[in-house]
Amino acid sequence: MKWILFLGALIGLSCGREKFFGDQVFRINVRNGDEISKLSQLVNSDNFKLDVWKAPSTFSRLVDVLVPSVSLQPVKSFLKSQGLEYSVTIGDLQALLDHEDEEMQHNEGQERSGNNFNYGAYHSLEAIYHEMDSIAGDFPDLASRVKIGHSFENRSMYVLKFGTAEGGRRPAVWLNAGIHSREWISVATAIWTARKIASDYGKDPTITSILEKMDIFLLPVANPDGYVYTQSQNRLWRKTRSIYPRSRCVGTDPNRNWNASFAGEGASDNPCSEIYHGPHANSEVEVKSVVDFIQEHGNFKCFIDLHSYSQLLMYPYGYTVKKAPDADELDKVARRAAKALASLSGTTYQVGPTCTTVYPASGSSVDWAYDNGIKYAFTFELRDTGHYGFLLPANQIIPTAEETWLGLKTIMEHVRDNLY
Ligand SMILES: *[C@@H]1O[C@H](CO)[C@@H](O)[C@H](O)[C@H]1NC(C)=O
Ligand SMILES: *[C@@H]1O[C@H](CO)[C@@H](O)[C@H](O)[C@H]1NC(C)=O
Ligand SMILES: [Zn+2]
Repeated sequence: MKWILFLGALIGLSCGREKFFGDQVFRINVRNGDEISKLSQLVNSDNFKLDVWKAPSTFSRLVDVLVPSVSLQPVKSFLKSQGLEYSVTIGDLQALLDHEDEEMQHNEGQERSGNNFNYGAYHSLEAIYHEMDSIAGDFPDLASRVKIGHSFENRSMYVLKFGTAEGGRRPAVWLNAGIHSREWISVATAIWTARKIASDYGKDPTITSILEKMDIFLLPVANPDGYVYTQSQNRLWRKTRSIYPRSRCVGTDPNRNWNASFAGEGASDNPCSEIYHGPHANSEVEVKSVVDFIQEHGNFKCFIDLHSYSQLLMYPYGYTVKKAPDADELDKVARRAAKALASLSGTTYQVGPTCTTVYPASGSSVDWAYDNGIKYAFTFELRDTGHYGFLLPANQIIPTAEETWLGLKTIMEHVRDNLY
């Protein structure tokens, strides 16, 4: 009986989730334009089913690519024949996934018996929503959980509102996370940040003074369907889970779906692409819910979107190489924030405008925010630089959240002192 239960637990552990046996992540060094086009040729060939985890940027010519086991030999041959340098950063992807899964299961068991949310672990959507309720319950004068809409599969979208004044439309900050569902560290950082804001109010003079002037709205899971899917079906899912008639693929990239140079450069009109922009701007109900909420509110001054990975802090534009009118100020703030972030444990971030720092990306959240009068618009790409990529171990959650908090505070202080 005992061993049957044990077997059941084993099978139940990751039942149904897509397996990545033998798959590896390669780090390819592209030294010039010629090598970049050779690599694009490889990546765009449908035969190999490659998934680009990290594209080259101004700061790094290293490209991370997930190579399925069946493609290992042909991809290696191609790289050799073209003289492209590469190394293997993740040699056993499935082992990393299994380990992460075991840690989560173990933690869930512990949380069930202890009834305490462990901020150093990854969580289910349900557990995160429950913790949002707990924060609101623990700090009823400061925090409340607000439903701003629902997802394509009809899951609730919740934000935590932090505010010290009754009524009114105070200037406000929007903190966004988890828009790309596989970027779990952004979700974990966001929920840690929520607890931090609440518990430091009245103790830390910086956050106290920020909240005396502004409200903070925090959306920890901007893509709830995708997030659930990463835990039940495919850990590396990035997009929403929307379905459109006549489309043979599921999902839209919710960070190409905003009404900012929609369907421009750096987005794809192929529904099967990881950067598919969707049938029209705001087609994704998750995006539309945020847009409607922000427009209805009408007094947002700051919009920060948390992603992973690469350790970058960026500001508009993503859709054009043109300099944003406020680029000099945004650059200064971002550099200060990156410096504050690094002061904790030396984690270095590169700073710059999205388009020229990483790659062109149209239809992104921060460009939309900026074009709609929210001047202080920033994107964080959190840890790491590729050693684990999207599979950042849970023991890095708190160090990541703590250092990011210093960056976030620096930005919010600047907003507080420069309200417009
Ligand atoms: C969506 O969920 C809400 C509750 O959150 C429910 O009232 C509603 O009927 C659901 N709609 C659909 C189409 O399932
Ligand atoms: C997008 O923005 C333009 C103005 O820049 C507006 O005319 C258009 O209606 C918007 N589209 C959507 C779907 O909101
Ligand atoms: Zn992302």
